Amino acid sequence: MASTLLENFLLSLLVVFAAFWVAQASDPNILSDFVVPPNSTNLDGNYFTFIGLRGVLFNNTLPNFKVTKASMAEFPALNGQSVSFAILKYPAGGLNPPHTHPRSAELLFLVEGSLEVGFIDTTNKLYNQTLQVGDMFIFPKGLVHFQYNADVNATATAISAFGSANAGTVSIPTNVFTTGIDDTILAKAFKTDVATIQNIKSGLAPKA
Ligand SMILES: *[C@@H]1O[C@H](CO)[C@@H](O)[C@H](O)[C@H]1NC(C)=O
Ligand SMILES: *[C@@H]1O[C@H](CO)[C@@H](O)[C@H](O)[C@H]1NC(C)=O
Ligand SMILES: *[C@@H]1O[C@H](CO)[C@@H](O)[C@H](O)[C@H]1NC(C)=O
Ligand SMILES: *[C@@H]1O[C@H](CO)[C@@H](O)[C@H](O)[C@H]1NC(C)=O
Repeated sequence: MASTLLENFLLSLLVVFAAFWVAQASDPNILSDFVVPPNSTNLDGNYFTFIGLRGVLFNNTLPNFKVTKASMAEFPALNGQSVSFAILKYPAGGLNPPHTHPRSAELLFLVEGSLEVGFIDTTNKLYNQTLQVGDMFIFPKGLVHFQYNADVNATATAISAFGSANAGTVSIPTNVFTTGIDDTILAKAFKTDVATIQNIKSGLAPKA
């Protein structure tokens, strides 16, 4: 009897510590129900409503891959809630280039078309998949990943959920090639020549 009580106690302790550990793995906890914006008066339902995604989901007129975010920057009520969303639109052949989200995993749900997806772990192993409508794929936190609509005719649409109100995005091509790192350093890093690096850079430069 006593040993059962002790076991229950230890088990409860374990659950509490596990919950604590999970909390530490996400955005910082807040000590209020929600974060009230400075100088706000008469908060109502509008503060907790985001209408910036109206018309985005089924708009298939986009020429290039486009992500529309509902994170803390666009939707301030997410501050302190450890969640956010993004709508991803891929025209035929559209690519979301290799990138990472430093503060969150990404749970992608495909609602239209098909998608080639993949991520690379810290041992440089690729995990890839071809998704069809209704499929979900998890990109683990911080790992480099991509999505590609290989269909030459059809649009693909995905909804992604994040476990952070501000997951952050580091796009590998932009991050490495458009931030002023010296050509010689990049040529050495990629074991190529400066001309090749400059060629890559010119391809990534914003179109005038
Ligand atoms: C908020 O209120 C303070 C004090 O009344 C004022 O100084 C400040 O300018 C206000 N800020 C905004 C963004 O309205
Ligand atoms: C679809 O997206 C384009 C480009 O962002 C925009 O100009 C157009 O208004 C959108 N259409 C609808 C119905 O929202
Ligand atoms: C994964 O990627 C390889 C190329 O690296 C490709 O041959 C294979 O078909 C892909 N697998 C899936 C399930 O998409
Ligand atoms: C794309 O659409 C065109 C015109 O409808 C068709 O001829 C072609 O076979 C399609 N290609 C694929 C890969 O489905």
